[in-house]
Order: sequence, then C-alpha cells, then structure tokens
Amino acid sequence: MTAVDGISLTVEEGEFITVVGPSGCGKSTTLLNVAGLQTPTAGTIRLRGQDLTDLPAYERDIGVVFQDYALFPHKTVGENIGFGLKMRGVDSEQRKRRVEEMLEIISLEGYAEMYPHECSGGEQQRVAVARALAFDPDLVLMDEPLSNLDKELRHSMRNELKRIQRETGVTTIYVTHNQTEALSMGDRLAVLNDGQVEQFGDPKNAYQNPETPFVAGFLGQSSRLDGVYSDSPTPQIETASGVTFDVTPQGQVGDGDDVALFLRNELVGFATGDADPANTFEGVVGEVDYQGRDVVYLVDVPELDSVVEVSGKRKHGGTDVLEKGASVSISIAPEDVIYTPLEGQVRTAEAAPV
Ligand SMILES: Nc1ncnc2c1ncn2[C@@H]1O[C@H](COP(=O)(O)OP(=O)(O)OP(=O)(O)O)[C@@H](O)[C@H]1O
Ligand SMILES: [Mg+2]
Repeated sequence: MTAVDGISLTVEEGEFITVVGPSGCGKSTTLLNVAGLQTPTAGTIRLRGQDLTDLPAYERDIGVVFQDYALFPHKTVGENIGFGLKMRGVDSEQRKRRVEEMLEIISLEGYAEMYPHECSGGEQQRVAVARALAFDPDLVLMDEPLSNLDKELRHSMRNELKRIQRETGVTTIYVTHNQTEALSMGDRLAVLNDGQVEQFGDPKNAYQNPETPFVAGFLGQSSRLDGVYSDSPTPQIETASGVTFDVTPQGQVGDGDDVALFLRNELVGFATGDADPANTFEGVVGEVDYQGRDVVYLVDVPELDSVVEVSGKRKHGGTDVLEKGASVSISIAPEDVIYTPLEGQVRTAEAAPV
C-alpha cells in the first residue's frame, strides 16, 4: 500500500509551513520520512542542499514533535528537554540553563524533576515541543503538537510557537487537523489528499482561490454543486438542476468546462426585498444549528435540488434566530462564488480551445 505518493515540497529557510489534510492522507508518513524515522521507497530528502535520504535520524539536525508526543518515560522532564543538547556534547551547566529557559517558555517552571507520567497530556505535549526546540535544530517537524490542549492553552501555545519560531528563525513544518491553525500560522500552507499535494502556497490564496474541488471543499464550510461554465453572454455556471449562477471569470476554467461550484456558508446571505435577483433562490430552513457565535442553517433549496448551508452570523441583527420551516431567500454575490475544474479535468495547454 502507498501512504505517500510523489509528494514534493520545497521549503525555504526560516519558513513556517503548515500541512493539512484528512486523516490517513500521509501527513505523519511524510514527516517520518523527513526526520529519518522511516525510509522512503523512492525519492530524496535534502536539507540545505545536503542529501539526507540515507542519513540516520540521529545525525540529522531535526527536532521532532510526534503526534503522540513520545517522551522518554524514564527520564525527567528536564532530562527530556536537555536530551538533544546532551547528545551534542553540551555541558551540564549550560544544559541546565537552557532547560530552565525552555521550561519558562512552555510555562512549566519547576517541572524539571518530574517524570512524564506525573504530567497531564497537555503538559507532556509542551515538554515535547521544548525538547524539539532546545538544541536549536536546523528544522523542526511538528505533528499535531497541540491536539491535547484545551482551547485557551492551545491558543496561547499557538502564539507562543509562532513567537519562538520568529525569534529563532527555525524552519518549521507543522502538521495539523485544525484549519484555523493551518491558515493562521503558516507562511505557506500545503493541502494533502490521498498521499499527494493538492495545493501549496499562500494560505489566503488557498482559501479564496482553491485549485481543486478537494481543496475548495476541505477548507472552510461550503455546499457543493456541479455544473458547466460558459463565457457568454456573461460568465456563468449552469448547474445540474438547470439553474444559472453569475460568476466572475477565473484563469483555470474556460468555456464549456465541467466545474465544481462551492457556496461558502459565510458568503451566502439571506436576501432582503431589494436584492439583485441574480444568484437569489427561494428556500425553506431545515436544520438550525445554534453554535453561540454562529448559527448555521441548512436551507432546502428545491431549485438547486440541494441543501445549502448558511452561516447566520449577525445576519439578523445578531438577535433573532430563524426557526425551522421559515421561508427564506438566499443569495450570493457573483464574485463570492468559488469554482474549480472538476476532478481529473485540470486544463492543459493542449486541451485549451484556440
Ligand atoms: N507503519 C505503517 N504500515 C502500513 N501502513 C501505514 C503505516 N503507517 C501509516 N500507514 C498508512 O499510511 C497512510 C498514511 O498514514 P499517515 O499516518 O501518514 O496519515 P496522517 O495523514 O498522518 O493521518 P492522521 O491525520 O490520522 O494522523 C494511512 O492509510 C495509514 O493507514
Ligand atoms: Mg498523523
């Protein structure tokens, strides 16, 4: 079985790269290959031009935080954090100072003599982060390093990691399931699917201009419709149910192409009386999912032969919540309609009409 197939990522020195993708898509496998803890059957791993592919893990200057934050169980917190320094021959005085520094950074002052089993999951995770950073590695790999922390701590650790990264300038590859983390922390974002990179670049661009249906559907919350794009008389997409959406043109798609169209739930609004009739559809509120800050409605839209998700944040003066069964009109501005070539229909120069 192939866990990772043809992943190619070039990371610049000092960059913070975030990697997202569904469970089982090959994120951990990729990191294990880079760290030297698993050997790829093909391909090469280079760091600053040096081929590392056959170099054992302990000879690579790479700090790793595993998904399961495997600390050495018989070493104290202090010994865990100082391990990389000891391996590199740093004397005990200096080691102690650095360990104290790291403990302060992760807010675990006084924990040096404790053992991992005496720490909570979140504390162990922070120790694992400190262990990976303590010896000033050339590269740090983090696999879901904050997954065990509560929301508050996760938020502060996220800022802390970014601060440490900015201060040390250490090149970092950071795997996460959390979209907010992926979009907010990364200088660049890689979206993985099924052992392959679907898109790699500016996080904002990946969110706003996804290149594949997978990326469009994976980032954010949206409703998908399939259709056909046409240029004339104006740029539009006719959906399978025979409805037309006005859209703005984008480079990837040309006249007659099959496309996947996405309505992001935060970009769909409830139309008021004077709304432009373009991209406006009648519907009935089905499920109401009250989430506190947001209210997410599932609106049944017969014309679209689909249920459209609408995020109702502040849409009703911030007070009223629509009831199930309410009749509504939903609408979306043409420039907010996201669409990509359908799977396997990526346009090539040869296929483009002249
Ligand atoms: N040691 C292994 N032997 C065989 N298959 C494996 C092994 N480790 C992982 N796999 C398989 O390789 C694929 C990729 O696994 P990987 O752990 O890289 O996924 P992941 O993206 O990190 O997922 P998650 O988000 O759940 O951690 C999966 O289908 C998994 O079942
Ligand atoms: Mg994993």
